[in-house]
This record gives sequence, C-alpha cells and structure tokens, in this order.
Amino acid sequence: MNIKYSLIKKEEDIDILQGKESTFANLHYKYNKETIQFLKTHFYRQDSLYLVATDENNAFVALCSLDSDWWEPHHFFLREIFIMPSYQGQGIGKVLFEKCIDHANQFQAKAIVTETAFENIPMQKLCEKMGFTRWDNPQWKEGITYKLFL
Ligand SMILES: CC(C)(COP(=O)(O)OP(=O)(O)OC[C@H]1O[C@@H](n2cnc3c(N)ncnc32)[C@H](O)[C@@H]1OP(=O)(O)O)[C@@H](O)C(=O)NCCC(=O)NCCS
Repeated sequence: MNIKYSLIKKEEDIDILQGKESTFANLHYKYNKETIQFLKTHFYRQDSLYLVATDENNAFVALCSLDSDWWEPHHFFLREIFIMPSYQGQGIGKVLFEKCIDHANQFQAKAIVTETAFENIPMQKLCEKMGFTRWDNPQWKEGITYKLFL
C-alpha cells in the first residue's frame, strides 16, 4: 500500500471532505458545509497541523487536524481524523496519530487531547493503542476525552 502523507497548504483543500461519510454500528459521520467550515476556523493558527493522505492515484484517503485551541495551556487538540472506509483498519490512523504526536513534541506541548463518542469503539481502541488514557473532562461529558501526556 503506497500512501502519501502531505501537509494541507490551502484552506480550500479541506473541501475534499465534502460528502465523505463513514458508519460504525449506529454512528454515522458525514461532512457537510457547516462541519467543513468549522474545521477551517483553526487552519490559520501558526501551530496547527492539517494533513491529508492520498493513494498512488492521488485519490483522497484520509485527513486529520491538530491545533492548540484548547483551554489548558500547552495542550494540542486532535480535532479531526477521518479515514475513508475502504482504507480503515490498515494502520493509516496510527500513522496520522504518530505525526500529530511528533508535531506536538516539536512545540514542546505537555499533552494531546482528543474527544470521541461513547459508541466510537475504533477511535477508542486507536487512542488506547497510541498510549492515550481516558481523562475526566470537566467541560465535556457527552463522550470520552482522551489525553496523552508527552
Ligand atoms: C477511527 C479511525 C480514525 C481509525 O483509523 P484506522 O486507520 O482505521 O485505524 P488503524 O488501522 O490505524 O488501527 C489502529 C488500531 O485502532 C483500532 N481499530 C481500528 N479500527 C477498528 C475497528 N473497526 N474496531 C476495533 N478497533 C479498531 C485497533 O486497535 C487498531 O489496532 P490493530 O490493527 O493492531 O488491532 C477510522 O476508523 C475512521 O476514520 N473512522 C471514521 C471517522 C471517525 O470515527 N473519526 C474519529 C472521530 S472522533
């Protein structure tokens, strides 16, 4: 499998997510104009990381984003991670997590956090595989917050 990982350089490249969807059990993710617009709001922060993965035909495979818009100082938030269903379970999520961890380390961050739904078992397993642990988030109880201390 020949996957290429690149930095997203232009805000409009995030539009690639439009209409992309993924389902796990009762959980259904689908990107629309609003979700994409919100994702763009953190794009211009100097320390943000937006990555795209493509296959050998240059087709879209995955996207993830990490930014420092989190209320605890020196923390990065892994805000978005999406792998196309046909590419899930092949280690791409793990590679993207590793790249986010490298990035946060370069900025001497204390920790990375991420949030996911109670039903999102794949994301929970991925977080735990990467060394994240559940964290009791005083500001968000609607799902699970994970934290990795660096
Ligand atoms: C969650 C997601 C990012 C995982 O990415 P991925 O590329 O499929 O994950 P990987 O192949 O790197 O798998 C890494 C680990 O995650 C876990 N995992 C991945 N898919 C899983 C599944 N369907 N069920 C259970 N565990 C799973 C496993 O522990 C796996 O390690 P293993 O292969 O050694 O067992 C991907 O399923 C996805 O994009 N889902 C839709 C969008 C989404 O839910 N994003 C997160 C929103 S908070």
